[in-house]
Amino acid sequence: PRTAAVIPAAGRGVRLGPGAPKALRTLNGTPMLVHAVRAMAASNAVSLVVVVAPPDDTPSVKSLLTDLALPDRTEVVVVPGGDTRQESVRRGLDALPDDIGVVLVHDAARPLVPVDTVDAVIDAVRDGAPAVVPALPLADTVKEVEPGRGPEPVVATPERARLRAVQTPQGFDRATLLRAHDAIAADGEGATDCAGMVERLGEPVVVVPGHEEAFKVTRPLDLVLAEAVLARRRA
Ligand code: C5P
Repeated sequence: PRTAAVIPAAGRGVRLGPGAPKALRTLNGTPMLVHAVRAMAASNAVSLVVVVAPPDDTPSVKSLLTDLALPDRTEVVVVPGGDTRQESVRRGLDALPDDIGVVLVHDAARPLVPVDTVDAVIDAVRDGAPAVVPALPLADTVKEVEPGRGPEPVVATPERARLRAVQTPQGFDRATLLRAHDAIAADGEGATDCAGMVERLGEPVVVVPGHEEAFKVTRPLDLVLAEAVLARRRA
């Protein structure tokens, strides 16, 4: 079965400060989304990339991506996104042709993920895992708190060695991911990552090693780090 990557890129990127939608902000002159598309197309296994664009910017995203020099095997399709990440991913899934058996879901906000991480996720799905997430151990100790104003009471301190910070691309058996999305939509609930939806189905989700360079560009300092990583790659 063929493998496709869905890239939700319809977020505004409010935490990054004012400006263009996050996926269209540039790193060393190239939009983050272009880096993310190239990162998916770098895998020999990926033959289709579905980009879910900000609805108002869909035409400009299409023209941005038509002139990209990508491998011949890679087709790029652009569809308009929705109000939430989950809805945007759903629209991407709806655009997949029938012969796609493995689906990656990759944040445009993780433009620098190395191809070895992408391939490791795909391989684990092909080996039979219905849902695979790349993740890293945490540097910081994490506290669970009772959120509120003022000093927040600590509720628990999970054992750090058992925690993982998850990244993308997350990889799925296509049928499992569709079932997970249908179940969540029927519940009227939301989820911040696709693997979490599969967990709620009761299906197994496994973690493979992520990569430091797959970090999410969220805050202004992340832009500085991303540009430094790119400069180092070119050196
Ligand atoms: O906001 P967050 O960092 O979780 O966004 C993760 C990814 O989901 C980003 O690539 C963003 O563009 C995308 N997204 C989307 N549609 C939305 C909100 C976020 O495609 N409505």
